[in-house]
Amino acid sequence: MTDPIIVAKANGVGRVVLNRPDKLNAISLAMWQGLHRALVDFANDDEVRVVVVEGAVGDKPAFSAGADISEFADKRGSKEAVDAYNATAQAAEHALNSIDKPTIAKIRGYCVGGGLGVALCCDLRIAAQGSRFGIPAAKLGLGYSVSALKPLVDLVGPSAAKEILYTAKRFTAEDAVVMGLINRCVPAGELDAFVNDYASTIVGNAPLTIKAVKHIVREALRDESLRDEALCQRVVDDCYASTDYTEGRTAFMEKRKAVFTGR
Ligand code: COA
Repeated sequence: MTDPIIVAKANGVGRVVLNRPDKLNAISLAMWQGLHRALVDFANDDEVRVVVVEGAVGDKPAFSAGADISEFADKRGSKEAVDAYNATAQAAEHALNSIDKPTIAKIRGYCVGGGLGVALCCDLRIAAQGSRFGIPAAKLGLGYSVSALKPLVDLVGPSAAKEILYTAKRFTAEDAVVMGLINRCVPAGELDAFVNDYASTIVGNAPLTIKAVKHIVREALRDESLRDEALCQRVVDDCYASTDYTEGRTAFMEKRKAVFTGR
């Protein structure tokens, strides 16, 4: 049987591929579990500096058409089953949200429902022209909690979030850029090269600076009363105490490319 989650590591980049192209990479329970495992592995592997999440490309391209609806009757048929299913999906999304390495969603084709939810857990979203984005909850009668909707509201603001959810429409990649839902929309033939270039650029930058940015942007979005100021201070102090800080300024003066180690 083909593995529905493919994991690969090369040149500092950890890739996780949702691999069910004939079902538009709809995410089954087993795939949520596989995604979670891959992210825990990437989090613990110092060689992985950037994570890219993508969908396997089939006849109809898709990042993912969301949670596997064919499993809903069996695995989301009662309140208890819904809770257990949601806990598994949320654990995977939490692992993606909380990994302290930059994450990029490489999007080609449909990026819908839970698929868009996964993309929203990433730091950056880069999509091919022709991709389509939407949240069809209002067509399926699903309800989303505050914690489920907060990433969308944080990203695009309340008005665009309501537009996406009220209409349940599928928006173009160009619309998605305007709404702030994705960072970049590039010609389909250039997507791989564009994402590879972004990933390798980030791999070459100072890991502690990137880690500090990731933590501080997250904390900046929290209510001030809940903000972990000690963490924010620590990640900034770690930058200034690092050999990478010495290396960065020395390399600049010597007009060479810095070689960062994350220490
Ligand atoms: N769960 C399970 N299977 C799915 C799926 C999902 N979320 N999305 C697509 N598929 C399957 C289809 O059943 C179909 O399988 P089949 O060939 O065995 O019949 C295959 O993937 C191709 O999808 P299809 O609907 O034929 O493609 P399309 O181009 O006509 O439409 C979408 C694409 C994305 C508009 C449509 O598939 C869709 O609406 N999917 C559901 C999206 C959704 O509601 N997601 C929310 C879940 S959180």
